[in-house]
Amino acid sequence: MENKAPRQLKISVLRFNPQEPGSVPRMQTYEIEEAEGMTLFIALMEIREKQDPSLEFDFVCRAGICGSCGMMINGSPTLACRTLTKDLGTEITLAPLPAFELIADLSVDTGKWMRGMSERLETWLHMKQPDVDLRRFEEKMEPELAEKIYELDRCIECGCCVAACGTARMREDFVGAVGLNKIARFRLDPRDRRNDDDYFEVIGDDDGVFGCMSLIACHDVCPKDLPLATQIAFLRRKMVSVGWK
Ligand code: SF4
Ligand code: F3S
Ligand code: FES
Repeated sequence: MENKAPRQLKISVLRFNPQEPGSVPRMQTYEIEEAEGMTLFIALMEIREKQDPSLEFDFVCRAGICGSCGMMINGSPTLACRTLTKDLGTEITLAPLPAFELIADLSVDTGKWMRGMSERLETWLHMKQPDVDLRRFEEKMEPELAEKIYELDRCIECGCCVAACGTARMREDFVGAVGLNKIARFRLDPRDRRNDDDYFEVIGDDDGVFGCMSLIACHDVCPKDLPLATQIAFLRRKMVSVGWK
């Protein structure tokens, strides 16, 4: 088999640390040799270990599970640990996800944003029977329904859908596709005591379902392939049908 010379990658990173006095946003380019099966996580680790220990970015699981490595890769929000360099050209541009508080370089505080959204929408189970200990007792559920809930529960709160959304850029409190997906998920759950009025109350304005302009970018970038556009359209239709405007 022909042994091809490894590609030389030029990785340009938007550097800025708002905590550091005198830091100004600038692009910094690093050159590395591509290795077999290299992901952007591996490339960034190599840069940090061999060239620049000051480069900041977040990773935990390296397996598309924790949601911490979302970043703009050539202008599109994506998980860096699931992105193979071989699928990109030799010149790669990286920037932090917009819409979230910048910590430094490629690291943003998605946790703070998700917590705020979650508190506004109360994205936790409001048990019909508050005394039930879920560790000991699981209510029976039809497998098809459990499957539907599981499908929406696969969200890893990576923030890619928010970073891709034009409304989220304009409206600070817009709950994003991630928030609307969570309401769609709890609406399905027969253990939750809230009714449609309760759910629609928290998303029935311009920071919720009526702020969504059906741009669909959320749907296109979600690394877990959640059916976001379908869920949002369903919620909107449902709300309009019962008179929410
Ligand atoms: Fe990430 Fe998809 Fe969840 Fe949005 S809905 S936070 S893109 S996993
Ligand atoms: Fe934004 Fe997705 Fe709606 S990109 S505008 S939440 S369809
Ligand atoms: Fe966990 Fe990428 S490091 S999703």
